[in-house]
Amino acid sequence: MSNRPTSPETAIPDATKRVHIKSFGCQMNVHDAERMADLLALEGYATTDRVEEADLVILNTCHIREKASEKVYSELGRLRRLKSERAEAGQSTLIAVAGCVAQAEGREIMNRQPAVDLVVGPQSYQNLPGLLADARRRRVVDTEFPAVDKFDALPPPGARRLAAKGPSAFLTVQEGCDKFCSFCVVPFTRGAETSRSATAILAEARIMVEAGIREIMLLGQNVNAYHGEGPEGGTLSLAGLMDALSQIDGLDRIRYATSHPLDMTDDLYAIHRDNPKVMPYLHLPVQSGSNRILKAMNRKHDRDLYRRIIDRMRTARPDIALSSDFIVGFPGETEADFEDTMALVRETGFASAFSFKYSPRPGTKSAEGADDVPEAEKTARLHALQALLLDQQNAFNRSTLGRRADVLFEKAGRHPGQLTGKSPWLQAVHVDLPDGVPAESVLGRIWSVDLLDVTSNSLQGRLVAESQPKREDQAA
Ligand code: 5AD
Ligand code: SF4
Repeated sequence: MSNRPTSPETAIPDATKRVHIKSFGCQMNVHDAERMADLLALEGYATTDRVEEADLVILNTCHIREKASEKVYSELGRLRRLKSERAEAGQSTLIAVAGCVAQAEGREIMNRQPAVDLVVGPQSYQNLPGLLADARRRRVVDTEFPAVDKFDALPPPGARRLAAKGPSAFLTVQEGCDKFCSFCVVPFTRGAETSRSATAILAEARIMVEAGIREIMLLGQNVNAYHGEGPEGGTLSLAGLMDALSQIDGLDRIRYATSHPLDMTDDLYAIHRDNPKVMPYLHLPVQSGSNRILKAMNRKHDRDLYRRIIDRMRTARPDIALSSDFIVGFPGETEADFEDTMALVRETGFASAFSFKYSPRPGTKSAEGADDVPEAEKTARLHALQALLLDQQNAFNRSTLGRRADVLFEKAGRHPGQLTGKSPWLQAVHVDLPDGVPAESVLGRIWSVDLLDVTSNSLQGRLVAESQPKREDQAA
């Protein structure tokens, strides 16, 4: 038998090198950055927040909107100067570009910025050690879509890293998208829709729970299209996967994002109704309230279907907090189309939302036509929409006042003696620690809290008592 260490934690050599990872964009990228850090730890890299002391800098980029990818090139300009300053002091620096800009622009990045040593797409992170070794000798681009499951090839998250993260963590269950909305680069940068096996996900979730994680956010670009291989053969839906996860003792909360209206299967409504571990929160982007624009966006649903989904979800789980994404100024969007979006928002009532001006992305269908809504018009529409959404967010927050809610406490607040956590509806909640209650008995745990007041975008509450763990068979 070999006496090689089996746990990645015990296999970590003394860290001699430092890596700085800067992430842009979505939660998937934040999570990918953590997994890259886990892998690089095995290669002797410690992470650092200080870019000046890094031997390896990874920009984990986002390509979803124009501004996001422009930022990458200005950041690379700064890194180039840093690299030459460090070289003058006799220190070498490797610069890597990862994420979706890497995938979409590959060699173009090398051409535009000679200081870049490595370009690596999101599907190739498991190759990082070999790629870095190559990049010390020559400039390397890896933007392949390999057949292996990247997450199964990456080491499981390290227990120390998990413990440091607090009680809520991400777990990627699905990647890529086959929907091809006409404005969106995701099907090109993240590739075809794939689901990880439930066995791998459950094993990872158990490691997380053992490390103290109480809440898991299941991630996927099209997460409710999940259809992974089940532990006993067959395939599991997202609801089936959440059901299996909810049987893990110590895991108290399950969330998921991002969903598409076409994949709202019957069992998702049922699990929101029946399983108290599934949090009452749904992020379901609609993008527009105009049927004409939804068709041009190739969303494959109309406003009516969206409304019916929301009604059905509210019947199943009346307190559900709804969230969405919106794009204003899509090509051909008239004032009347925009009014349809405003009307849909008014009819629906969102607890939170993200809204963006349309920007044409290279390679997408809608970028082939004119970007014909004037910039000033886009700005005016965005402001009007955001003002309405902010009113709705405040109204939602006020509607929860007077309730006694479970709050999972994540960290110390900004003021001494203050702790911050999340309500079931994903609101930030602050409490003051009463005399005699040590912070350790609250942090990382779920307490019931009386919700008393709303400040700008958070709530103020009062601690009541530690909450008893929920079982998956208890009704909400
Ligand atoms: N322009 C503006 N917003 C976009 N999004 C995606 N692509 C674009 C684009 N080309 C928005 C959508 C999506 C969110 C993640 O980003 O609203 O749901
Ligand atoms: Fe992009 Fe549409 Fe897929 Fe969402 S569903 S990732 S917007 S193509």
